[in-house]
Parts: sequence; structure tokens; C-alpha cells
Amino acid sequence: MTSLIDALNGFQPETALVLGSGLGGVVDSIDVKSRHSFADLEGFPTSSVSGHSAEVITGALNGHKVIVFSGRVHYYEQGDAAAMRGPLEALKSVGVIRLILTNSAGSTNPDMGPGSIMQIKDHINFSGTNPLFGEPTDKRFVGLTTAYSKPLRKAFRKQAKQLGIKLHRGVYMWFSGPSFETPAEIKIARNMGADAVGMSTVPEVILARFLDMDVAAFSVVTNYAAGMTGGELSHTETKEMAPQGGEKLSRLISTTLKEGF
Ligand code: HPA
Repeated sequence: MTSLIDALNGFQPETALVLGSGLGGVVDSIDVKSRHSFADLEGFPTSSVSGHSAEVITGALNGHKVIVFSGRVHYYEQGDAAAMRGPLEALKSVGVIRLILTNSAGSTNPDMGPGSIMQIKDHINFSGTNPLFGEPTDKRFVGLTTAYSKPLRKAFRKQAKQLGIKLHRGVYMWFSGPSFETPAEIKIARNMGADAVGMSTVPEVILARFLDMDVAAFSVVTNYAAGMTGGELSHTETKEMAPQGGEKLSRLISTTLKEGF
């Protein structure tokens, strides 16, 4: 077991990237400097979700120094919304100032089909839990009015336009999982203003804002949400569909990093 700061041996990335289910393709574009299993790092939990290898990779993406979490730990694994607190605190300790989060999601918006990518502009957390439960200091009262950094959103949108990539913008609603939502829940989500639903990201956004990092977050749409089409949902479908939007999102992220913020 080593601390992240020791494992990185002086490497100081300012940008961290969290890759969701099936988005591991981004790793192929990284000029890798080092790789570390979550299991070998102090304060890091281990993940059991197929499609998530839970590894830390450092290196350069298009010339920009990055630290990448290939996989994350989800609330639904142990019922711990703060599961990613240790890793995010470790990122802070090595000097990371901005966090780019990605996930796979179901779309509640008929105009945003599978293969689409969406920039998250806001979220809905009606899960009843919060990763800051138990935090004793007044820092727990984190403002989320501008949780998704406007300058970062602008930078990504500019590059999407130049690349000719359609980048949807919308609201992500966090569900605990691991079961998928019901059609009735999706109807409510849509009526409340959600464009996409998923089982991750929101706890990390809250923790990252608690730690004063700038946040950008993206969903890759792998399916229409429950009840919007005839069929049943599955994690196999998520894994199969994620690389389609994932490829566009990888290009967008790597170009934006190159151009800088
Ligand atoms: N719901 C929740 N999480 C998801 C979905 C979904 O429809 N698709 C991919 N992740």
C-alpha cells in the first residue's frame, strides 16, 4: 500500500479524468507514465463492476498531463455514497484542480438517442443520501448553484462545435441502482426536468465541490430509459453501446485538453 502522492513520484497533473462503464477506450490515447491498481493505494476502495477495471493511470493525453481513474466505485456497491471521498482527497493532495467525470446513462429525452453525448449542466439528487453525511464541519454546506463549471462547459462546447460533434446539454438525475429504474420512475424523472438518468457521478460532483475542484461532467447515452421503448434494460447493453458515444467523447476531451482551458 502506498499513498497516491508517493506512487506519483513528483508527477503533478492538474486535470483528473474519471472514466465510466465502457469508456475505457480513452486509455488507448494516453501516453502512459504509470499505472496503479486501486487495491494498492491507501484510501482507495475496490470496485466489483464488470467493465470497470478500477485503476489509476497517469500520463499525457494529447500533451496535457492527466491522472485517470479507469473505473470508480459506485454507491450501489456497498451503499456508501462517500466511497470516492478517499480517491478524490488523494487527487487534491497531488494538486489536481479540475475533475472531468464521464458516465453511461439512459436518456429520458426522445430527441437524445443511444450514441449521443450530453454535457451535464445540472443534476437532481432525490436519492435521499449524500456523500457528506457525517461530515462534521461547516464545509459540509456546499453550494451547488454552479457545480458544473461554466468556463469548462464553454471550453468543451467550443471544441465540440469545431469538431462537428453534437453535444447535447442537460440535467442528470442520480438513481441509486443497481436495479434499473421503472417506467413510472422515468416518467417522474422526465416531468421533473431530467434529460438523463444514471447511477454515478453526483456523489463525486458533490465531493469535488466540497474539495474546491472545478467540475465538468458528461454522459454517454447507451439506451432510452425504462419504458420509453418496448424492451428490457441490461448492463450488457450499456457495455455494448458505451463505446459508440465514448469514441466521440474521447475525441472531444482529448482535443479540449490540448487546446487548454
Ligand atoms: N439507467 C440508469 N443507469 C444507466 C442507464 C439507465 O437507463 N443506462 C446506463 N446507465
